[in-house]
Amino acid sequence: MERNNILSIKDLKVNYGHVNALKGVSLDVGQGEIVVLVGANGAGKTTIMETVLGANVPSGGEIRFKDKLTSGNPVDRNVRNGMYLVPEGRGVFSSMTVMDNLLLGAHHNLKDSASKLELVFDSFPVLGERRTQIAGTLSGGERQMLAIARALMSAPDMIMVDEPSIGLAPIIVNDIFEILVNLNKEGYSILLSEQNVYKALKIAHRGYVLETGKIIKSGTSDELLNDESVREAYLGA
Ligand SMILES: Nc1ncnc2c1ncn2[C@@H]1O[C@H](COP(=O)(O)OP(=O)(O)OP(=O)(O)O)[C@@H](O)[C@H]1O
Ligand SMILES: [Mg+2]
Repeated sequence: MERNNILSIKDLKVNYGHVNALKGVSLDVGQGEIVVLVGANGAGKTTIMETVLGANVPSGGEIRFKDKLTSGNPVDRNVRNGMYLVPEGRGVFSSMTVMDNLLLGAHHNLKDSASKLELVFDSFPVLGERRTQIAGTLSGGERQMLAIARALMSAPDMIMVDEPSIGLAPIIVNDIFEILVNLNKEGYSILLSEQNVYKALKIAHRGYVLETGKIIKSGTSDELLNDESVREAYLGA
């Protein structure tokens, strides 16, 4: 299949001491795609994203981002090259205002932060209204929006979003997924990890199923939604 990949991972291995968290993972994110990582707790989803970002040093394999080898690069360099991770648990600074959280997202390039702020407030009017509010007092959904909005402040080409729906009411989950779909339509490539497998596959183009550090299945969202073993293990059907 011909695909113009923004991210290409080959045979990635990551160990934490004696734990082989990734045992040779290969996956791609095409330019303009939403790709979802499906897998139970401990399967290695966060490890994949953190390693792509540069927060973990792989023990084997390679990572290419925009056709350049990036495995081994430090995080700040990868962020400047155009990727961003919205971490599990949202990772906003609770004691800082909405505005200061957003400015932190642009800290390596404050040059056009004013215009970026305007764009972000256009897409997330709620955050504009609450720009002086302390982030810790936002609702869970608002905090997830802030975390995604902060990612946009660094003007990335690819955003990795680690389990954005965790702890959110179903109706808010729909809002967050709609935000991701809209961002994707604006041109952002998205690597998403989700336990909310059905909803995630509904918005994604393709997906990978991860089990204890290995990809056991991959395909288009439709293929995975119709796959017997995926339905049994992740869709309760
Ligand atoms: N810093 C660490 N030190 C030791 N082991 C770790 C560390 N981080 C992750 N692991 C282990 O690596 C494996 C993969 O963890 P990871 O967090 O990537 O899974 P995950 O798919 O994101 O799970 P979850 O759905 O619970 O977030 C697990 O066995 C975990 O215990
Ligand atoms: Mg995780």
